[in-house]
Amino acid sequence: MFGQFNKLSIGLFDSGVGGLSVWKEALKLLPGHRFLYFADTEYAPYGPRPEYEVVQRALAISRFLISKGAGVVVVACNTATSAAISTLRETFNIPFIGMEPAVKPAASLTRTGVIGVLATKGTLGGSKYHLSLNKYASDIKVVEQVGEGLVGMVESGITYGKEIEDLVGRYVSPMLENNADYIVLGCTHYPFLKEVIEKVAGTGVTLIDPAPAVARQIFRRVREMDMISQVSGTKVRGVDYYRSCYNDTMFYSSGDTKVLSDLARSIVPGISDSFFESVDI
Ligand code: DGL
Repeated sequence: MFGQFNKLSIGLFDSGVGGLSVWKEALKLLPGHRFLYFADTEYAPYGPRPEYEVVQRALAISRFLISKGAGVVVVACNTATSAAISTLRETFNIPFIGMEPAVKPAASLTRTGVIGVLATKGTLGGSKYHLSLNKYASDIKVVEQVGEGLVGMVESGITYGKEIEDLVGRYVSPMLENNADYIVLGCTHYPFLKEVIEKVAGTGVTLIDPAPAVARQIFRRVREMDMISQVSGTKVRGVDYYRSCYNDTMFYSSGDTKVLSDLARSIVPGISDSFFESVDI
């Protein structure tokens, strides 16, 4: 069934497993499409790396995904989007879709006039984020926090437990003390910590995950490219719906595939080992 109406595949990449939070949402809207996911496990985390290194990795991974047939590439990583998306767009002749720091919705929804932004050092230091702040958040207070160590924990498969609660507690406390009512998850790894962050932050705080909005953007772009399939129009939901599409995603990693496969299977159960491959790029 797959492939008969799709000319191009949708590539996604992240420093590791975080971009699966975007894949999960994109899959809901485009279940008939072939996805190629690349986790740069060997080089994660990107946050503390110098920008030029992240740009080099983004170029190598994009080249790889295009060689595998990607006709559009989603930079499913805030840090890589901030560092590399302009270079990628200048270098390759296909569309690139990046992450948007979700400052805009948080700033428009806040009732206390205070929002928290949890992201990597690379994202908070980047011009894309600062442009968003100037545009949408000039009249509210923004409490920023680098989520140091959180990406590493998710990459080790740790998404709950005391250790991570303590770390999240340290990062969220200054936001709560300032009366923030919305927290932007400015890194694609953080939706996997949603339950812990919600528990620590309490009921008065709403988390904003940009992945569904980015997935809508992917859908629009793919539709423009006339790649949309008849299958995407069907209204099937739940596990069966995911099962019906999982077998057309290929997962690559520059390192070990263990956590990648565990997390992908927590989204779509039963993906067979043959869909996971370690590659040396
Ligand atoms: N998921 C990446 C992001 O959105 C993680 C960055 C990192 O590897 O530090 O920023």
